[in-house]
Amino acid sequence: MTTFTVDDKSYTVETRGKNLLEVCLGLGLNIPYFCWHPVFRSVGACRQCAVKVFMDAKDNRGSIEMSCMTPVKDGMRVFINDPEALAFRARIIEWLMVNHPHDCPVCDEGGECHLQDMTVMTGHVYRTHRFPKRTHRDQNLGPFVNMEMNRCIQCYRCVRFYRDYAGGRDFDVMGWHDHVYFGRHEDGALESEFSGNLVEVCPTGVFTDKSLKKHYTRKWDLQTAPSICVHCGLGCNTIAGERYGTLRRVMPRYSEKVNGYFLCDRGRYGYGFVNSGKRIRQPLIRDAESQSTTSSTLALARISELLRSGNVIGIGSPRASIESNFALRALVGAERFFYGMPESEMRIISSMVEMIRSGPVITPSLREVESCDSVFILGEDVTNSAPMLDLALRQSVLQKPMIEAMKLGIHDWLNECLREAMQDERGPLFIAAPYQTKLDSIATAAYRAAPDDIARLGFAVAHIIDPNAAAVPGLTPLLEAQAKAIAAGLGSGRKPLVVSGTSCRSEAVVHAAGSIARALHAAGTDVRLCFTVPECNSMGAALLPAGGIESALAELRKGSAATVIILENDIFRTLDAASAQTIFSNTHVIAIDHMSTATTGRAEVVLPAAAFPEASGTLVNNEGRAQRLFQVFVPSAPIEASWRWISKMMPILRKKADPWPTLDSLLAEIAADIPVFAPIRDIAPPAGFRLLEQKIPRQSARYSGRTAISANVTIHEPKPPEDRDAPMSFSMEGSPRQPPSALIARFWAPQWNSVQAINKFQNEIAGTLRGGDCGRRLIEPSPLPRASAPTVIPPAFAPRLDAFLFVPAYHIFGSDECSAVADEVTRNISPAYVGFATVDANRFGIVEGQIVAVSVGNEILRLTAKLNASLPAGIAALPFGLPGLHAANLPAWGTLDNLSTSEEQRGARQ
Ligand code: SF4
Ligand code: SF4
Ligand code: FES
Repeated sequence: MTTFTVDDKSYTVETRGKNLLEVCLGLGLNIPYFCWHPVFRSVGACRQCAVKVFMDAKDNRGSIEMSCMTPVKDGMRVFINDPEALAFRARIIEWLMVNHPHDCPVCDEGGECHLQDMTVMTGHVYRTHRFPKRTHRDQNLGPFVNMEMNRCIQCYRCVRFYRDYAGGRDFDVMGWHDHVYFGRHEDGALESEFSGNLVEVCPTGVFTDKSLKKHYTRKWDLQTAPSICVHCGLGCNTIAGERYGTLRRVMPRYSEKVNGYFLCDRGRYGYGFVNSGKRIRQPLIRDAESQSTTSSTLALARISELLRSGNVIGIGSPRASIESNFALRALVGAERFFYGMPESEMRIISSMVEMIRSGPVITPSLREVESCDSVFILGEDVTNSAPMLDLALRQSVLQKPMIEAMKLGIHDWLNECLREAMQDERGPLFIAAPYQTKLDSIATAAYRAAPDDIARLGFAVAHIIDPNAAAVPGLTPLLEAQAKAIAAGLGSGRKPLVVSGTSCRSEAVVHAAGSIARALHAAGTDVRLCFTVPECNSMGAALLPAGGIESALAELRKGSAATVIILENDIFRTLDAASAQTIFSNTHVIAIDHMSTATTGRAEVVLPAAAFPEASGTLVNNEGRAQRLFQVFVPSAPIEASWRWISKMMPILRKKADPWPTLDSLLAEIAADIPVFAPIRDIAPPAGFRLLEQKIPRQSARYSGRTAISANVTIHEPKPPEDRDAPMSFSMEGSPRQPPSALIARFWAPQWNSVQAINKFQNEIAGTLRGGDCGRRLIEPSPLPRASAPTVIPPAFAPRLDAFLFVPAYHIFGSDECSAVADEVTRNISPAYVGFATVDANRFGIVEGQIVAVSVGNEILRLTAKLNASLPAGIAALPFGLPGLHAANLPAWGTLDNLSTSEEQRGARQ
């Protein structure tokens, strides 16, 4: 503990690993700053955080110091409000603002701008500069980020995030004469998957959210609520904002355990599907010819007929909430409820759950991944399947060199010095995947192999680390050498990490990952095991005891059900087209979804479900963390949460009418019925919770235009809607106090209007939120580790001359069903293609860009050929989820049907 004074007040605090600025901000004191960031720490670039420091009792002169560059010492006397320090800071901001256009009224950052806040805090009110200002030409950086470089104050945060933290290479700082410019070498879309974070990282209005610009509203006019990203299985925490009934933006919500301060671009810009024309906003009913809109009453009447006509089964969804899946299970009965995912995927996820449960290895939070120092990724392209995991792994490879650099006596917050000392050193990162991944560029070694060979490599690594682990028969010398290198790299780590997931659709790969983790644990290391899952609630759905979608199909084929209810699931993405089609030929189909899909297009009745900002619910992420997302706005009637539609069907099947009048009543039933979900009632305060006897407001204190919003309907201000499911109001009225962390709808504090206000919500800088972090892990390793499942080592992959093994390839933009509909994202989706290994392409005379027909499963696909030198011979890649591709049952053997017959392409080949 260190004792020091600030403005003559004494403090005794833990200061290890922190500089003076961080300590003071953590104490709730206000010091203006720009270039310091809680994650990238200090570089001393802006000089805005100056304070007067007297080093000890003997120091009677004191000196102006940059607080972000100063360690805290016992006996130190610090003066934030010293007149010299105040004048210094006022002069600095005046200089920084010399060339700033002072265009706050037209700036998208206005009202949520750190530069505005710091200018006011510093007291700079009058501009003395009388000369022309330096101006820049702005760049078009693509659909995500807008640029207005004249607002730059040269704090270097953007380039430190983009290059140093996120590993981007197409953005830099460029200087000539008296100009410093932060951008690309030429106009063009930013290539980093994390480019959107520039919006919050930049303390001014240089980089702003281009998607918000399209339907701009002032930030204080947004109605916001805490939410969870629905575009992959990591469950990043978000704040979603609405105005005039449309979702206007999604931004990160700080979470110490999950996404920290950031989001990936899929998570940030995928929200457009909520406003898209593909939304289902009215019930649909099918007659002999086509579907047409109908009223809820008529839709439910038709549903009543269908449900009474025979047995009913339910197909759940890994993208629907726990509540909606559970409600469907309660409606149809546990034995007639099925996972909305293929058996193969279900088995893999169940294996993951079992491995996490049986221990002894712990699965890390996303944040904890950053602290691991040697990594082996098996079968995952995390940049595209779980993007924020890529960002976390980029920090974990810095752990080892950072620890070495700190041995030189460099503070861990002295970021620039640390990076100088580390140079390009990286800790061990090994990747085994079917094709080249973006992380390969920072990997120690990358291996390309078929899923079975990836599994064999993994089992071989486990055996080398722990000879008690099963040996791999028929190991080639090359594979053995690779396994030894990986084992040595992992063994050199203080905290190794093994990463795997569902991408390869291989149970063997996941078991191999588990086997390595257990071997490392047996060897005495503090190992972690991280799995990725495809959908936002894949893990939660897998915790509900049920069979896979093929079992549902078998039931339907037996004729034991006349009607199927499909919940938020496009079964044409889950099953091959022929199997999916059989469901419609033999059965009455009722679909509940928020987006029109191939499934809803064929259903007899479709009910309009609420999308993520339109209802509250619970999702379970890849580490088994249950997290609550809250309704942001009330959708236009008759859109409702899926579980509320299901609740209306209960009496039709002679079950209790209105069984769950509120979310809390449904949660209570879930917790009582399924033991693993017992804690989910406690992950957020119930609807009856009050702070100072008031609800938590979704609108800011400055929210404007409440009467005007509905002036076309009534000149009276309507009563705000009631929320039965959450202790939050749809208005600006409510408790002014900081709410419990699960209910934080915006980060705001007096004098802090930008996201930098997060500092005021944390127990310590970059630490836990006051009131604890959100969510609760449902699966923890058993204290008495159970025996692992017997190891089944697959035979080596044998390429065939007459066929290819088609494996799924993932894309951050396009592979996720919902975000693929968002305008910004659609523009980034590449057309469907089939990737061939260069050796195979040469063998078959396939050239880049040629249209080829491939036969996979029972489908023939005509696709553009792309040559991929990283694919091993005999393997072909089909992008998962891109338009026109189902990729449901990959990996699968398939053949090349014929080559293109088009004249131009034939000409191109000759
Ligand atoms: S663009 Fe923004 S983040 Fe980058 S240096 Fe300028 S003010 Fe700082
Ligand atoms: S990593 Fe996944 S959960 Fe996180 S923001 Fe991106 S898409 Fe959303
Ligand atoms: S915040 Fe300390 S110099 Fe910029």
